[in-house]
Amino acid sequence: MRKRHVLDLMNRHMSIKHQLSHRRFSHTSTLLHINSSPLYGRSVSRQLTGAFVTQWKSSHPDGTVVDRDLNATSISPIAAEWVGAAYTPEEARNPQQKELLALSDTLLAELEQADEYVFGVPMHNFGVPTVLKLWIDQIARVGRTFSYADGTPKGLLTGKKATFIIATGGIYDAQTQMASFNFVEPYLRSVFGFLGVTDATFLTTGGTAALNYGQDRDAFLAPHLQVVQSHAQTN
Ligand SMILES: Cc1cc2nc3c(=O)[nH]c(=O)nc-3n(C[C@H](O)[C@H](O)[C@H](O)COP(=O)(O)O)c2cc1C
Repeated sequence: MRKRHVLDLMNRHMSIKHQLSHRRFSHTSTLLHINSSPLYGRSVSRQLTGAFVTQWKSSHPDGTVVDRDLNATSISPIAAEWVGAAYTPEEARNPQQKELLALSDTLLAELEQADEYVFGVPMHNFGVPTVLKLWIDQIARVGRTFSYADGTPKGLLTGKKATFIIATGGIYDAQTQMASFNFVEPYLRSVFGFLGVTDATFLTTGGTAALNYGQDRDAFLAPHLQVVQSHAQTN
């Protein structure tokens, strides 16, 4: 009886081990790495997404990383012609309408081809940076990332995993006085959930303003780097 139990346990262990190694080595996945901080070398969110990517690469040796730097991508605000093009059935679009949607199509292809996303998001005026909102306006497309086919909204970007690495100057933890000023995480959770991305992790580094008042950067970032790296490793 006892021997059987031990054998059972061993079998189960081997099977889990097999599944893990299978997952790790046989599927080549793609990570889409999106940044939106204008501060580059001084940016906390860029440093943390960089650490995520480094860790992810070492646990996905055959994986592919696609970089999309929103501060180096020129995106116009949505105009009436763009809306007209997006709501014209694909087969009926004229060449000018196709051209209007070209950047949106490129950005959508990046999203569709990736298995996982990591976003660097600085809080700007209690919300997401303008460049990220401009990008969201390009990728929220009827028939591509959402539909109202049966009268109810349906997200079409399914089976994806997203990590949002947010940096805020102040502290907006739940239960604090400032919590209701945080429109970054609730907004991203809602809009990505609407598009079908429900497997989303939010890692927030609050209080980065301390770095402007003499706080040591490495000491400040160390615990946040650890959280990001361990999340990337297990992802
Ligand atoms: C234009 C601008 C607006 C900001 N607005 C806010 C804000 O509303 N609340 C806040 O706590 N911090 C605010 N900050 C501070 C940033 O959230 C903080 O510096 C954070 O570290 C930015 O991320 P980054 O280091 O990746 O750029 C703002 C910073 C900038 C540059």
